[in-house]
Amino acid sequence: MCGIVGILGNHEAAPILVDALKRLEYRGYDSAGIATVDAGKLGRRRAVGKLVNLSDLLVHNPIAGKAGIGHTRWATHGVPNIVNSHPHRAKDVAVVHNGIIENFKELRDELSQNGVVFETDTDTETVVQLCMSYLKDGLSPKYAAAATIDRLEGAYALCFLFEGEDDLLIAARKGSPLAIGHGDGEMFVGSDALALAPMTDKVTYLDEGDWAIVTRTSLEIRDASGTLANREMRTIKVDLGTSDKGGYKHYMMKEIAEQPTVLAEAITHYTDPKTGGISVPGLDIDFANVDKITMVACGTAYLACSVAKYWFEQVARIPCEVDVASEFRYREPPMSDKSVAMFVSQSGETADTLAALRYCSDKVSKTVAVVNVAESSISRESDISLPIHAGVEIGVASTKAFTCQLIALVALVISAARARGELDAKSEQVLRTELTSLPGIINQSLAQQSEIDEVTIELSKASDALFLGRGAMYPLALEGALKLKEISYIHAEGYASGELKHGPIALVDEHMPVIVLAPKDDLFDKTVSNMQEVMARGGKVLLVTDPKGAETARDGVWKTIIMPPVHNMLAPILYAIPAQLIAYYTAVRKGTDVDQPRNLAKSVTVE
Ligand code: G6P
Repeated sequence: MCGIVGILGNHEAAPILVDALKRLEYRGYDSAGIATVDAGKLGRRRAVGKLVNLSDLLVHNPIAGKAGIGHTRWATHGVPNIVNSHPHRAKDVAVVHNGIIENFKELRDELSQNGVVFETDTDTETVVQLCMSYLKDGLSPKYAAAATIDRLEGAYALCFLFEGEDDLLIAARKGSPLAIGHGDGEMFVGSDALALAPMTDKVTYLDEGDWAIVTRTSLEIRDASGTLANREMRTIKVDLGTSDKGGYKHYMMKEIAEQPTVLAEAITHYTDPKTGGISVPGLDIDFANVDKITMVACGTAYLACSVAKYWFEQVARIPCEVDVASEFRYREPPMSDKSVAMFVSQSGETADTLAALRYCSDKVSKTVAVVNVAESSISRESDISLPIHAGVEIGVASTKAFTCQLIALVALVISAARARGELDAKSEQVLRTELTSLPGIINQSLAQQSEIDEVTIELSKASDALFLGRGAMYPLALEGALKLKEISYIHAEGYASGELKHGPIALVDEHMPVIVLAPKDDLFDKTVSNMQEVMARGGKVLLVTDPKGAETARDGVWKTIIMPPVHNMLAPILYAIPAQLIAYYTAVRKGTDVDQPRNLAKSVTVE
């Protein structure tokens, strides 16, 4: 979703702003723009579509100034056109915004009654018009911005730039993350540390309700009540090397291929270096007395939770409930004070997941974050934060974060099962050994790329596809379908194999590919029966299984992809690889925008 950057620098701001916006591209956007102040004069340039359009515009119509703000916009209010693009400007003030101003209609009506003429369909224009009205009333930029912020309801990260002010940015945060970067006689504002990474690694995160007065040599932060606030400056490690494509055509493929490495890192993190046993550093939970686990997340992270539900219940014998974050709090679920609530999020900034965490924080015994971005809001606001070690994930469709989330969740399940006396030493030893071999097994599975690519010659011609799975492979079927529809735009649905007869079998004909994710486990024979039902109706089955499964059931199937054998509990992690590759190669054949699929955002910071 929208990305923000602000610079008070010692060099021309425009190229640095565009470069920083490039590092925010992964969040998803449909237009971009910058504004600068040069010798007191405010100017701006905006372009619809990819950043290259903005760069082209700046070549033909450059803009000078060492102070500036920039924005990538993911449209919420108003279509993605030039007029609705940020920065928004009202005479002496320009603003970039991430979030939604919920009371914008009320403010717009009020301003319109006072003669203000609005040019755009956006909620953000009310912010600049309101600020300009305060400037007209004689308030200084600082007080005009403060008075504006005070009137806003909803979610926002904001950065203000003013005519006549070459050394001033006002930044504000409520609901959407915002970081201030400290340079040498320079200051920066950014949606995340990655945007600021080449400029500085010294970052101060604004807290909820904070607003900041930024100059090249000073930073003054005030909390929502206007009181001076002291926020810690941290040194952030962002590996910029991980944010290029590393020779791959797409970030998504690079991230799929990175999984053996990042999974090994995650497994190392959750292994006690002294004993070699699975351990979760900093896990201060008495699992023996936990009566329930509630897991809340969105998108692919929700599906990681759905896999873990099987593990928590089967292996650790703890009742576990999983919910999509956008529904959770509105249901007002009663929470037990002996329960643990977990929030799984790659970005750690998903607005609904963050709101669910806040709903739970005073109702449960412990809140646990499972996040990729260590400095994120969800991480900082949880009692316990568990890293997943996936590294920067740029592709909008989550891949390596999903499998790394599952590693952190396996470690949690094993720790919980041990604490509850549900896992004997021998079974734990087996699991530990299997987990250690997993990166190697994943590596072998990546060798199936050309077989999968070949299968997608047919798949890419389909208009619909079904994914089937049973047990913990059912959420994986949902993930396979989600990946395929996200990036190839083929309509796909995931179903529990046993539900096939209750509806989706009506769709089956010779044009409908049915992808069955089925390792040879205790449920395999039942899944094979469901597969036979599909084939009996002319359905085209792609079976993803292991050597034993292929030996038993490959007759009559359209194609079989053979995965290396793996421990049953870890199968959802391994089978994520073919699910990702099927989606990837199908999308490449269809020529879609794999890394930034239409309408999608990587980090969904609005409800
Ligand atoms: C968006 C992304 C998905 C992601 C979901 C949850 O929809 O496109 O890839 O799974 O948000 O994001 P989170 O950062 O909370 O894991």
